[in-house]
Amino acid sequence: MKILVTGGCGFIGSAVVRLAIERGHEVTNVDALTYAACPANVESVADNSKYHFEHVDIRDAAELRRVFTEFRPDTVMHLAAESHVDRSIDGPGDFVTTNVLGTFNMLEAARDYWTSREKSQDFRFHHISTDEVYGSLGVEGLFTEDTCYDPRSPYSACKASSDHLVRAWHETYGLPVVLTNCSNNYGPYHFPEKLVPLVIIKALRGQQIPIYGKGDNVRDWLFVEDHADALLLVLQHGMNGRSYNIGGENERTNVQMVQTLCGILDRLRPKPDGSSYSSQITFVADRPGHDKRYAIDPTRIRHELGWSPSVTVEEGLEQTVLWYLDNEEWWQSLLSRDGFETRLGKAK
Ligand SMILES: NC(=O)c1ccc[n+]([C@@H]2O[C@H](COP(=O)([O-])OP(=O)(O)OC[C@H]3O[C@@H](n4cnc5c(N)ncnc54)[C@H](O)[C@@H]3O)[C@@H](O)[C@H]2O)c1
Repeated sequence: MKILVTGGCGFIGSAVVRLAIERGHEVTNVDALTYAACPANVESVADNSKYHFEHVDIRDAAELRRVFTEFRPDTVMHLAAESHVDRSIDGPGDFVTTNVLGTFNMLEAARDYWTSREKSQDFRFHHISTDEVYGSLGVEGLFTEDTCYDPRSPYSACKASSDHLVRAWHETYGLPVVLTNCSNNYGPYHFPEKLVPLVIIKALRGQQIPIYGKGDNVRDWLFVEDHADALLLVLQHGMNGRSYNIGGENERTNVQMVQTLCGILDRLRPKPDGSSYSSQITFVADRPGHDKRYAIDPTRIRHELGWSPSVTVEEGLEQTVLWYLDNEEWWQSLLSRDGFETRLGKAK
């Protein structure tokens, strides 16, 4: 397949690009290279003749049309987005322009192109979204594809808006689409401002490891390479117009995640004084409107498409810690970018 991927220099997009190239697909990666992008994430495929890069902002409608006309994709995987909830609270503007208007531009460019291809029913616009659109769960229950949308942060509200646009383009214009809503990812190449890499890096640097509130917020964690695998499966076998929840059935509180990471580090890189990295944990003022619990019911993707994750969260976290220990140059080069020292982790 010829796949147009947006956001392919980010965390999940780059995992998709690497896997798609490994499986023999041709990929054009459209990325504006924002603060969250790392071209090094796709270095392993950069010289592959099936990989192309377009430095394009999805807010630029004319440039998107050019890319569609020149590359002539069979399918689209739309991942480009502003993705950090804390940043959406500090400054929601970019979230509206990229996640909402950018998705509108993508849909219009795709619709024009699809119309020029006589509305081929083989074409797919795969919109990659999040479980955060469903809002917050209490102690029980799971998000299914039929759960009502109830977004609560600027990030999740913008992602929910983009999901609605994608469904509307399907219902109104007949554009062939699939949607996926995934739980929290972790793994190699994760930008240092997100919880898992932040904990590993702060621990290794001997700094305080910040946890929001009491650390009892629950997330459902999935290894990024399992997410990429699920996305390619949905792209190829998902039913037109349908959405699929993707999750690993790995609910953990934030404290449990941090303690697990500290335990792995204690084993793999013991501190010279013999103390545990967990002694660096500090509880900090909570995020405003912090959703309590997310948990995915992945029955549809498991039963209809036969997908299941390849690793447990403990195995995936061990691989992730090893990757950060082996790739210090990668994350060191990102620490000077806006955010790492100043954002999460302001002690009370
Ligand atoms: N990280 C998660 O746990 C998670 C979970 C479920 C869904 N998602 C969704 O998956 C997608 C990718 O998330 P991620 O964590 O890899 O994000 P990321 O922040 O690591 O990467 C986003 C990429 O999009 C690019 N981008 C941003 N604005 C752009 C614009 N205007 N034009 C073109 N490119 C632009 C950035 O340069 C970057 O390369 C997002 O749509 C996100 O909502 C993420």
